[in-house]
Amino acid sequence: MARKLIAAGNWKMNTTVEEGISLARKVAEASRNNKVLTILAVPHTHLFPVSKKIKASSGVRLAAQNCHHKTSGAFTGEISPAMISSLKITYVVIGHSERREYNHEDNALLALKTRAALDAGLKVIFCCGEALDIRKSDSHVAHVKNQLSESLFMLSATEMKNIVIAYEPIWAIGTGETATPEQAQEMHFAIREMLRKKYGKRVAENTSILYGGSVKGSNAAELFSQPDVDGGLVGGASLNADEFVTIVNSFGRKAG
Ligand code: PGA
Repeated sequence: MARKLIAAGNWKMNTTVEEGISLARKVAEASRNNKVLTILAVPHTHLFPVSKKIKASSGVRLAAQNCHHKTSGAFTGEISPAMISSLKITYVVIGHSERREYNHEDNALLALKTRAALDAGLKVIFCCGEALDIRKSDSHVAHVKNQLSESLFMLSATEMKNIVIAYEPIWAIGTGETATPEQAQEMHFAIREMLRKKYGKRVAENTSILYGGSVKGSNAAELFSQPDVDGGLVGGASLNADEFVTIVNSFGRKAG
C-alpha cells in the first residue's frame, strides 16, 4: 500500500503563538515514527514562528487552515496560497465544515481554492462530510459524492497525488460523538470507489482518506484499523500534546 498514514491536528482558532510553539515542539519530539506523517494545521499567525522552531528532521509538516482563491489583490484580511507556500509550508486545509457553515464556502468556491492552492505548489487536505439530517435521510454517500464531484473531480490524475481527503461527518465534529469504525469504513470505502471510477485503481489506492470528528486517544486505534481509514484529522484532542501523540501512535500493524 503506497498511500501515506497521516495524523493531522487541526488547532482551529486556539493557542497563542507561544503556546503553539510549545505544543508543536512536544509533538515533534515525540513523533518519530517515520511511517506516519504528522501534520499540524495551525492558525495563520503561527505558520512562520512554528515552522522556525520545529526541525524538518522531525517529519512534522505544517498546514494552513484556509486560503483565498486569488494570488493577490484587494481582499482585506485574506491570505493567498502563494503567501503560504512562500513560507515553505506544505499543506492547506480546504473545505472544513466550519468554513462551509460560517463563511458560506460552497463547492464551487472550494474548487477555485483547491485549484489556486495546487497552482501555488501546496498540497490540499480537502474536507467533506454530511450534516445529521442528511445522514438520517440516508443520503450521506450521495452528498459526499456531490461535494467531491463539484470541488475535486475536475483535477487530473496527476494533480490528485497532491490531495488528501478528510471525511468529517458534521454531527461528529466537536460533539464527542464519533462515527463508529463501521460507519467510517463504509464512507471511506465509498469514497475510494468514487476515486476508482473517476481516476482508476492507482489513484484510488494511493489517495489517503482521513477520518475526522471527535477522534481521541481512546478511539483512534479502532478507527485507524479500518482498511480504508488512513488516519485522522483531529480537532480538540490535538491541543493536548500527550493525547495527540497517542493518536499518532495508534496505527498498530499498519505502521509496524
Ligand atoms: P474534533 O474536530 O476532533 O474536535 O471533533 C475535528 C475537525 O473539525 O477537524
